[in-house]
Amino acid sequence: MVQNENATSEEPPNAYDIVNYPLLSISQTHIGRLSALGWLFGMDPVHPSRARVLELGCSSGTNLLAMAQLFPEGKFLGVDYSKSQIEVALEATEAIGIRNVQFLHADICELGRDFGEFDYIISHGVYSWIPDSAKAALLRISKENLSSRGIAYVSYNCLPGWKMRGALRDMMLLHTGNLKDPMEKVGQSKALLQFLASACNQDSAYGKFLAGELELLLNTDDSYIAHEFLENENDAFYFADFHRQALGAGLNYLGDAEPASMMMADISEEAQKTFAQLKGNQVAIEQYLDFLRNRTFRCSLLCHAGVEFNRNIQPSRVRSLTAVSMIDLRQALEGSQPAVFAMQGGAEISVTDPATAMVLEALALNGSIPVDVLTESLLEPLKATCPEKEDEAICELIYTILLRAYFTKTADFYLSELSLTEPTPGNPYSLPLARWQAANNQKVSNFYLGMTATDAIMATLIQLCDGTRSPEEICIQILEAVRKKQLNFNEGEEVISDPERQKKLVERFYFTSMEKLKKSRLLAP
Ligand SMILES: C[S@@+](CC[C@H](N)C(=O)[O-])C[C@H]1O[C@@H](n2cnc3c(N)ncnc32)[C@H](O)[C@@H]1O
Repeated sequence: MVQNENATSEEPPNAYDIVNYPLLSISQTHIGRLSALGWLFGMDPVHPSRARVLELGCSSGTNLLAMAQLFPEGKFLGVDYSKSQIEVALEATEAIGIRNVQFLHADICELGRDFGEFDYIISHGVYSWIPDSAKAALLRISKENLSSRGIAYVSYNCLPGWKMRGALRDMMLLHTGNLKDPMEKVGQSKALLQFLASACNQDSAYGKFLAGELELLLNTDDSYIAHEFLENENDAFYFADFHRQALGAGLNYLGDAEPASMMMADISEEAQKTFAQLKGNQVAIEQYLDFLRNRTFRCSLLCHAGVEFNRNIQPSRVRSLTAVSMIDLRQALEGSQPAVFAMQGGAEISVTDPATAMVLEALALNGSIPVDVLTESLLEPLKATCPEKEDEAICELIYTILLRAYFTKTADFYLSELSLTEPTPGNPYSLPLARWQAANNQKVSNFYLGMTATDAIMATLIQLCDGTRSPEEICIQILEAVRKKQLNFNEGEEVISDPERQKKLVERFYFTSMEKLKKSRLLAP
């Protein structure tokens, strides 16, 4: 492990060493997703299972560790100039026993072409928060160190959405300017926003805006607020300006890591007609969509200028991907009843078209499934509903339905299998990083790099699922912890102390919790 030899004790303290950033994995950066988008757009991205991945500004390494454990043949390298965060990353790597990831304490400005070549270069939450010289270095590395088939991911605060949020930042900075302690600044910033949201005219547009921002702020980690709102640097860009900067660095815009945001499914047909005046200019379309949606944050995917791609997707490309459902089935299609699905966030959608309902139902019931396997299983049932269609046309119909789902946030695609082999078949096995996170009172990262909060008993269960214990042994250990009062088991308000009832409750807890863990993709299937 190379350490930054130039760091001296005279250097001003690093803001991220004073307040560490929260330990996050970021689902948008999953290389299985990035490669799927490149593949759909006709590129030939390197398969995630053998990719070389660099993360710039990796903080405590959670995101990279979450991916490294999924792709043991891949090579992962994280760079951050906060020494204490890199120490956490190294500690976690050691504890988890992952061998294919390295972390380097260094300033990205010091990295050159000789640093190596990578198939994916990720920088999430970095570009807007660093000085211009470091921004230039970030784009330079994303170009010079990117392999010819590579994809770079750069996220940043964008305009016009951050203009309004930027006004809140200004007020917070004004209000806390005379304070030194960063956490006191956060406390005072929240108090200011709380006061403004309660004292203003709550029926006005401004009142509604403040209420929305307050809700977001109260549900986020204080260390996130410290860095998102109160850092010295915080630049937001119009997409068109970011695009110009990327072109200037020799990179081209491939697409957005949130693919639905590139499309117009959420706007009226009338408005879509107006967009037709932009004659398919994707950058202009997305810029105007940002105006329309008041977008605050972007995650742009870049490739080398000159790499050929085509955003008019050939449906057959879908066949090589793994599809993941982003919706839950509430009611299957039957007679005059539509199929009903719950989206993430709770909203429901009804589907009456039999083919669409059949594909989405099968996907929702499987959770995740390779598209060729899904197609195989649906060919005969779909043929029964449209006997006039040839097999090839039915396959194409399935791919088109899946693509529509992808661009409307009801399904996702990965250019990789999403599974791990259990060390001992039959013994439950949770992701190693999740076990370390659970032991350290952190939210846990799943297969998709999403984060799940856990309580004490769930955290214990995740840690016990390390592949060495059978389900019976896990239940016995939880029961012992309950009897020693290390874990509490209540039924409603009642604390359970009867040994027989405790045993039954633990068994019930085990089965329902394992279902939850499987559904959250925290266990090897
Ligand atoms: C807002 S945090 C984002 C962390 C992480 N990528 C995430 O999204 O959870 C920005 C990170 O960039 C790092 N950073 C800022 N400037 C840097 C530089 N010049 N060289 C290396 N790391 C830098 C900070 O230490 C910090 O960990």
